[in-house]
Amino acid sequence: MNGSPFQATALAHPNIAFIKYWGNRDEQLRLPLTGSLSMALNGLDTVTQVSFNPGLTADRFILNGVEQTGAALERVAHFLEHVRQLAGINLFAQVESGNNYPSSTGIASSAAAFAALALAATKAAGLELSESELSRLARLGSGSACRSVPGGFAEWLPGSGDADSYAIQIAPPEHWDLVDLIVVVDRSEKAIGSSAGHKLASTSPLQTLRIAGAPERLEQCSTAILTRDFERLAQVVELDSEWMHAVMRTSSPPLYYWTPATEVVIWHVRAWRAQGHAVCATVDAGPNVHVIALAEEAAWAETQLRALPGVLEVLKAKPGGGVKLIKD
Ligand code: DP6
Repeated sequence: MNGSPFQATALAHPNIAFIKYWGNRDEQLRLPLTGSLSMALNGLDTVTQVSFNPGLTADRFILNGVEQTGAALERVAHFLEHVRQLAGINLFAQVESGNNYPSSTGIASSAAAFAALALAATKAAGLELSESELSRLARLGSGSACRSVPGGFAEWLPGSGDADSYAIQIAPPEHWDLVDLIVVVDRSEKAIGSSAGHKLASTSPLQTLRIAGAPERLEQCSTAILTRDFERLAQVVELDSEWMHAVMRTSSPPLYYWTPATEVVIWHVRAWRAQGHAVCATVDAGPNVHVIALAEEAAWAETQLRALPGVLEVLKAKPGGGVKLIKD
């Protein structure tokens, strides 16, 4: 345990979903309707310190130096309840978390946030969880966080219930030299976040069809990664992203996350691939585009992307590892 007996600090990376999680069969436990698969993003770090303190009369949550109240604090406090129950303690905690990437880039930070919080809080509470137990716990905070626990190329097994719904690493980060070029086209806060979006998924008549095809797409994606088959990866990653956005757009009320610049980026990425470049595009719950490229194409693709109209910024991330403890 690092620091004082009730204190620990952990670091986690966000992840980009190649096969998306969109819709739960149990909202409380965040049990997904389908499996999903992602790559952890190295160099984008969330560092979280947790201290359980007998002197506190309530949980505190400080994010990037700013004391949080309302929904953000409640989500963290609710998560800490799970940890207190597991550890059999009744102390409140101070949680201090910081990201080295600006939240204005629209990169979902909840995955890294709850992976880091799960490890730091359980360590600080004196618990030693296995990777799968930690992944299950992180899932209760944010579904995609369960994939940031093992890191690398990670598959979330939907499971039959709480006990077997967690993520496993199917290949380590060094398995495949891919790069995620995160193309920022809009920095504004999104109006509807993922948690609200998951609840709307079932209102789309397309969700049943999307779910029916998901296991086959996941299998294709997993095989493409294990055999380092970029063209196969590109086809299934783009198809799966399109399915999720089709569901979003046909939900009641509809969710429409893309801007014209999103379309411009995707259109060019497809044209470049048709010319023989190893690039493909996927979009999470927002307008920014994740362009996945073979490492040897990344410098070329970055230059092209920066020249497109509407592109504000391009961040780069290689495959990253899982959550880990760091010194305070
Ligand atoms: C579009 O994990 O952010 O990024 O469980 O409510 O926190 P909560 O949702 P979240 O949903 C992720 C949605 C997605 C696709 C994905 O990462 O698989």
